[in-house]
Amino acid sequence: MADTIRLDKLLGHTGWGTRKEIRELCRSGAVAVNGMSCRDSSLKVQPGRDTVTVKGEPVSYEEFYYLMLYKPEGILSATEDPHARTVIDLLPRQFSGAGLFPVGRLDKDTTGLLLLTNDGQWAHRITSPKKHVPKVYIARVAGSVPGDIGERFAAGLVLDDGLVCLPAKAVCSGEGELTITVQEGKFHQVKRMCAAVGLTVEALHRVRIGSLSLDETLTPGTWRSLTETERDAVFRSPETD
Ligand code: URA
Repeated sequence: MADTIRLDKLLGHTGWGTRKEIRELCRSGAVAVNGMSCRDSSLKVQPGRDTVTVKGEPVSYEEFYYLMLYKPEGILSATEDPHARTVIDLLPRQFSGAGLFPVGRLDKDTTGLLLLTNDGQWAHRITSPKKHVPKVYIARVAGSVPGDIGERFAAGLVLDDGLVCLPAKAVCSGEGELTITVQEGKFHQVKRMCAAVGLTVEALHRVRIGSLSLDETLTPGTWRSLTETERDAVFRSPETD
């Protein structure tokens, strides 16, 4: 028999409130399973086979979610914060009970590709430096770009606190603009790498993770779900695509 899940768990996961609120919702007659009103929130249902509706609206349940967000400036890469808006606040209610979190962090002023999921194993494979998943940034920099910047990034820069970086790439991609590829995600990594070669980062934008690029149709603050192929694309190198 396919996996079953309690109705209140399914509805909590899809943002319909606390267990108590869902019990009330069921008691009010707003919830139906396979077209029949269901007043018992402890009923076991089979996601994918049973159809659950709330006030006539179908509830779409998936255990794991995989989203791409165009992170705007001024938003924290965190799940909650008492003072500032977080990337989770940019998502609709349907995700509020699913335990989504950002895969790694972008600084508050960094923009671009941020992945969100509730699948811890997938996230770990992306963020672990041992997995060598390349993350590509466009940095607008102030200062004079050293002629040997590519070699210095490739050799493994040493940061101000003595941290030795894994080999990275830096290529001049415009006037005062670098395309930087790193395979780890230490605190302020790219800004500190640039500082190590005498450059100040004025703006930072992430464009790619593995061979998954930020969808150009997204605008700052918008998101979409990843396809299965895109979920795997983060583990492929752009060179092999
Ligand atoms: N490196 C940084 O310095 N900041 C980011 O947000 C991401 C990478």
